[in-house]
Amino acid sequence: MAARILSLIASTAALVAAVEPSLKLKTFVDSLELGSSFNPVMEAYWTGLPHHRRTPFAVSPDGKTGYLAYLDSSGTGVHVQQVDPSTMAATGTAVTIENVKEAGGLVAHNDGFALLGNEPIATTVANAPPSGTPVPAIYRYSNGEQQWKTFVAGPGVHEEDGLSMAPDMNGDLVWSEEAELYGAYFVVTDYSGDATGHFGDSIQYVNSNGTLEVIDGASSSWGCSHNTGIAFEAADEAPFASICAEDQGAIWLNTGATGMMNNGVKVSNENTTNGAGGESLGGMSGSYSGLARFVNSSSYIFTWVSRGAVDLTENTWMGEGYTASQNRTNGRRVAMAMFTDKSTKATAQASSTVGASGDDQVNWITTEIGADRSNAHVAVFDDQYALISYEEIAEPSCDFIAMGCSGTFTGSYFQLVNTAGQKIGEPVKSENTYVAGDMVTRDDGSICWPYVNMEWRLDVPALSLNVAETQKMSFACMSLA
Ligand SMILES: *[C@@H]1O[C@H](CO)[C@@H](O)[C@H](O)[C@H]1NC(C)=O
Ligand SMILES: *[C@@H]1O[C@H](CO)[C@@H](O)[C@H](O)[C@H]1NC(C)=O
Ligand SMILES: *[C@@H]1O[C@H](CO)[C@@H](O)[C@H](O)[C@H]1NC(C)=O
Ligand SMILES: *[C@@H]1O[C@H](CO)[C@@H](O)[C@H](O)[C@H]1NC(C)=O
Repeated sequence: MAARILSLIASTAALVAAVEPSLKLKTFVDSLELGSSFNPVMEAYWTGLPHHRRTPFAVSPDGKTGYLAYLDSSGTGVHVQQVDPSTMAATGTAVTIENVKEAGGLVAHNDGFALLGNEPIATTVANAPPSGTPVPAIYRYSNGEQQWKTFVAGPGVHEEDGLSMAPDMNGDLVWSEEAELYGAYFVVTDYSGDATGHFGDSIQYVNSNGTLEVIDGASSSWGCSHNTGIAFEAADEAPFASICAEDQGAIWLNTGATGMMNNGVKVSNENTTNGAGGESLGGMSGSYSGLARFVNSSSYIFTWVSRGAVDLTENTWMGEGYTASQNRTNGRRVAMAMFTDKSTKATAQASSTVGASGDDQVNWITTEIGADRSNAHVAVFDDQYALISYEEIAEPSCDFIAMGCSGTFTGSYFQLVNTAGQKIGEPVKSENTYVAGDMVTRDDGSICWPYVNMEWRLDVPALSLNVAETQKMSFACMSLA
């Protein structure tokens, strides 16, 4: 009898272990009152199509305080509002960082936050950029007071390689508790030296007291030419895990400052044009929650959108070993890649063989062709499961080579995946929430992100949307059920 009961218990346990979790969505509509107004739409580079203006979001390590950063609707001044992470309502007094032109990344600490922003430097300062073009900086606040501000480009920063500025703040900020370092990865334009007038990117490290540290094999003054998207995540020591989408034909895992060179890991072949790579990492106002590290693990997960790649040809500008490609599809599909550590892709790299198919290595999340997907993001639940989000246009018009598409927005999708790179179940669909700021894992293991409660349209240019400014922010949370 006892043996029978034991075997019954054992088989029940086996059954429980085999059941995969499912997803449960909860929204907090208009939960956060803002003290100032915010313009939720940004015009995409070149196409003028609407993108969400990113609102960086972070929760402190002790789980007690959330922070939401947003650009004032006047276009100058970033506000950082405290958020109660259980009710998603406002708490505390908002901090305003004057003169900052965009909120480019946010780290929450138990005593405050650090923001990546960009601000103009007076032209009277020696070697300041021309015409007040903003320069990226990290701002550290504790208990509502600024502790330090450190420029990560501009006068005095890697002067011998050329000076950099950031007219747009595309990039991200991360913090490693183990390394006691902030890492910032951002798009730059040089205003002195060989790369004057060209767009590229830069990786800089700043320690906890605000000192810029130049770290060999980690810091980089110039990486991917015409970086069209960044994905960045902390590691236990520098270099941190970094990915760039460039405009020559590829997406690279370039941890260790390998830029767009093939001593890095080629994640994907992409059809590109000058200054664009299919908005694979979100394009204008994207570059966040693209790469995430599993809890208590050295593994990372990356997501992007892609038209696929066929007919690899030699990229003569880059030289032997580098390729360009044609797109396989009209609309974009969502893909994911796993890395066993910050420098190693779990499965084969993308091909660089001329004449080969360029996307055989891709692990597609959406396999069907026809629709267009954009705004892909990822965050982890724990050490096993992650959530990938994207938006869809079922019947897109893709009028621009290697840019975004337009058409009627047909919903946001949320797909559960595991560390083995497998999809679990069908995606959850929602027509009234989408991701417009960082996806953050809360204390209770759920993943939350900010958005503005509005009708979202992808069928007309941003300027003809006439979107109202808002003083309310909403949040959505996904948990495992
Ligand atoms: C800040 O960090 C730098 C580099 O580690 C160090 O040299 C300096 O002494 C530190 N300053 C303070 C005030 O702790
Ligand atoms: C990208 O694909 C288009 C066709 O859609 C092609 O005309 C163009 O040459 C491709 N770009 C590159 C860099 O090969
Ligand atoms: C490649 O992309 C372009 C631009 O979006 C599109 O016009 C073309 O139809 C696509 N090619 C294929 C084979 O779908
Ligand atoms: C991660 O490790 C910590 C410390 O060992 C543990 O408390 C926590 O439950 C772990 N988290 C997961 C998701 O495994």
